[in-house]
Amino acid sequence: MRAFFVVVTLIVMAIAAPRMAAQKVELSIDASKPGAKIDRNLFGQFAEHLGHGIYDGIWVGSDSTIPNTRGIRNDVVAALKAIHVPNVRWPGGCFADGYHWRDGIGPQRVVRLNPDWGGVIEPSTFGTHEFMNFIDQIGSEAYVSVNLGSGSPQEAADWLEYMTAAQATTLEKERATNGHPAPYKVALLGLGNESWDCGGNMTPDYYLDRMKSFSHFVRNYNPAQMEKDQMLKIAVGPGGSEQRWTDWTETVMKAYQQHTWSWDINGLSLHSYTVGDWVNKSSSVDFGETEYAKVLELTLEMDGLISKHSAIMDKYDPQKKVALVVDEWGGWYAPLPGSNPGFLVQQNSMRDAVLAALNLNIFGRHADRVRGANIAQMINVLQAVILTDHEKMVLTPTYYVYKMYVPFQDSTFVPVTFDAGSYKHGDFTLPRVDAMAAKSKDGKLWVEITNVDPHQAAEVELKLTGINAKSASGETLTAPKMDSVNTFETPNTVVPKPISARTQGGKLILQLEPKSVTVVSVEQ
Ligand code: AHR
Repeated sequence: MRAFFVVVTLIVMAIAAPRMAAQKVELSIDASKPGAKIDRNLFGQFAEHLGHGIYDGIWVGSDSTIPNTRGIRNDVVAALKAIHVPNVRWPGGCFADGYHWRDGIGPQRVVRLNPDWGGVIEPSTFGTHEFMNFIDQIGSEAYVSVNLGSGSPQEAADWLEYMTAAQATTLEKERATNGHPAPYKVALLGLGNESWDCGGNMTPDYYLDRMKSFSHFVRNYNPAQMEKDQMLKIAVGPGGSEQRWTDWTETVMKAYQQHTWSWDINGLSLHSYTVGDWVNKSSSVDFGETEYAKVLELTLEMDGLISKHSAIMDKYDPQKKVALVVDEWGGWYAPLPGSNPGFLVQQNSMRDAVLAALNLNIFGRHADRVRGANIAQMINVLQAVILTDHEKMVLTPTYYVYKMYVPFQDSTFVPVTFDAGSYKHGDFTLPRVDAMAAKSKDGKLWVEITNVDPHQAAEVELKLTGINAKSASGETLTAPKMDSVNTFETPNTVVPKPISARTQGGKLILQLEPKSVTVVSVEQ
């Protein structure tokens, strides 16, 4: 009887508990003032030979019982097609600066160890042809990182000739013999990776000398890339805000300003992970509000980092010819218990969806300089969009953010003004909301709003000028808890739901859940 009264009392208390009033936010958008193009390459992915990122994640082999096309998982291909992946960076990461492309072509593959990531066997079964086939199946483009660390300019030059030559050279014939007579397209070329660290621990000046040489000798011969669609060369850039990376950006960009016909770059990479403490990394699951607020506050440092390096680039390249390409970013947490620590396996929660949206919006706001970004990493590694386990596959909250942002690919940035207010927890103070707007290629206005506050809903009033707005609808992503995840057993805990604005006195009002990511299009 006593238990009965306790339960009833709790229910009555829950019903009577005052619901936190929704925070009112006014978003003013002037659709007549378009800004920079939001390059589709901001939504790129990264796939390294690391853990189960490639093997199991993409490649299962043509004799696998897992449904596949030429060895590549059909479920993964379908999921990636739906998020319109603009480019995939491959084969690394640190792995790239030890990779020898000849290991991964032809009938006889070279089996090596993967010293960077767990010291496991690298069978080289997934090589150039398999990667290009994968890219083709998902309708994406290749961002190939050449080995500037342990390789030579000649080795990289030969790889590019092998991939792109259309004339009957020995390497072109070898490619044809290996099954692909037509030249491959290489959209982006990475000139090394983190050469200040795992890519060879070089000084900026030493890197610069090597990079110039690679830039000159490593040529793309694909006739379809001679005039338009020219391959973009991305030099190694900074990995943070410390002095050594300021010096790095200074050195490369100063040299760029004086560059001659014999070398060139089109981009400078920037790597920045959201990690609190590299030694004691926090958990990707079962975390509390302090970890939620801490990680999101940390991730917002991306904005300052981009501003800092953009300012250096502006000094030497005021016309912004060289793009800043954030080709490694994302949340990096402790490996899941029981997993190989070298495989960087972590879960992906509602917090990561918010983290992804905040970063994509930062990139959008810097779209005049930031014209590429690759989340690390696509499948089964770090902040992945897809997790697999043998025949099982699950889409993470971050995947859904990428899906919802598809209309922003190659859209035109439209400025949004709003008072974000603040969400406070303990020592942490963050903007309560974030937002971005853009006009898609078909002229439609799209608005993204992130409600960072895990407790308080937001009532957003859209104040639109330069457009006669009648309604707004789209999708919203939220979850029961800030650490909610999708698992193989419960894959639909964090999935988008439809949302539409109500009209009130000629205004469009959106009611947003706490800790949510929302994308709507505006109908005129
Ligand atoms: O993404 C994992 C690793 O992080 C990459 O291999 C390296 O470039 C970076 O340090």
